[in-house]
Amino acid sequence: MAPFIQTKGLTYAYPLESSGQIVALQGVDVTIERGEYVALIGANGSGKSTLVRHFNALLLPTAGQVWVDGLSTSQPELRWKVRQRVGMVFQNPDNQLVANTVEEDIAFGPENRGLPPAQIRARVDEALQLVGLVDYRTHPPQMLSGGQKQHVAIAGVLATRPSCIIFDEPTSMLDPPSRQAMLDTIRRLNVEEGITVILITQSMDEAALAHRVLVMHHGRIVMDGSPSAIFAHHERLQALGLELPFPIQMARHLKRGGMSLPSTCLTLEALVNALC
Ligand SMILES: Nc1ncnc2c1ncn2[C@@H]1O[C@H](COP(=O)(O)OP(=O)(O)O)[C@@H](O)[C@H]1O
Ligand SMILES: [Mg+2]
Repeated sequence: MAPFIQTKGLTYAYPLESSGQIVALQGVDVTIERGEYVALIGANGSGKSTLVRHFNALLLPTAGQVWVDGLSTSQPELRWKVRQRVGMVFQNPDNQLVANTVEEDIAFGPENRGLPPAQIRARVDEALQLVGLVDYRTHPPQMLSGGQKQHVAIAGVLATRPSCIIFDEPTSMLDPPSRQAMLDTIRRLNVEEGITVILITQSMDEAALAHRVLVMHHGRIVMDGSPSAIFAHHERLQALGLELPFPIQMARHLKRGGMSLPSTCLTLEALVNALC
């Protein structure tokens, strides 16, 4: 079976209105398999959003190719199939909500696809269940908290039954408890629903929760590996303008102070266990 997402020599340049262009991606070759949970990190402007916008054909390559589930996004007649497979959740929930009630909002995608009402109803109910918002179905989305709004946005994507969801900095506008709830939902969708997850994040602690971390720099993927492998490269990450997850920073301080600790405490829980 073909990989779920594959790019070959993916290059993208934004044309500028005046003249010239900004090259945002420079020959990216990447493969993402079904069911993976991938974190995408990199300094501001490194090309993360531009890359993932190619995964649901929001952007089309200037050069090179992108396949999703074996479908090339360069073929216009395949693009709607690509968009059916890959959903996106963005940073600002307010820009993603369109309707007067939570359930109308979630129904928007399936309605657009022309599904019969009974099927729309079933999908909306299922999506409400999956994000834990059944009790809020008739509420106006504008009245919900930021975290709840992001869950409505996820439900709207889920109602279209994608195989993959891309989250582009979904937690950056949320408070810590809402962030945690968001991350729990993302993990559950990956583990229990088998949804392929790509999470763009500024938080190294969040990236450490993924199975695989991709690091971007100046439009290229420069590191690709498990969180423990990636976050072992302290100096290299620092040079790319990135930090270390908090538990690893803490473990390094403690080790400098003479404590013996494993070098791979990726989560607070692992660090606490090692200390105990
Ligand atoms: N709509 C746009 N028009 C022109 N340049 C853009 C546009 N969007 C992004 N860029 C440029 O492309 C590069 C990559 O941006 P982006 O993919 O948004 O990076 P990231 O998501 O990692 O912050 C940056 O240099 C950015 O300024
Ligand atoms: Mg971005």
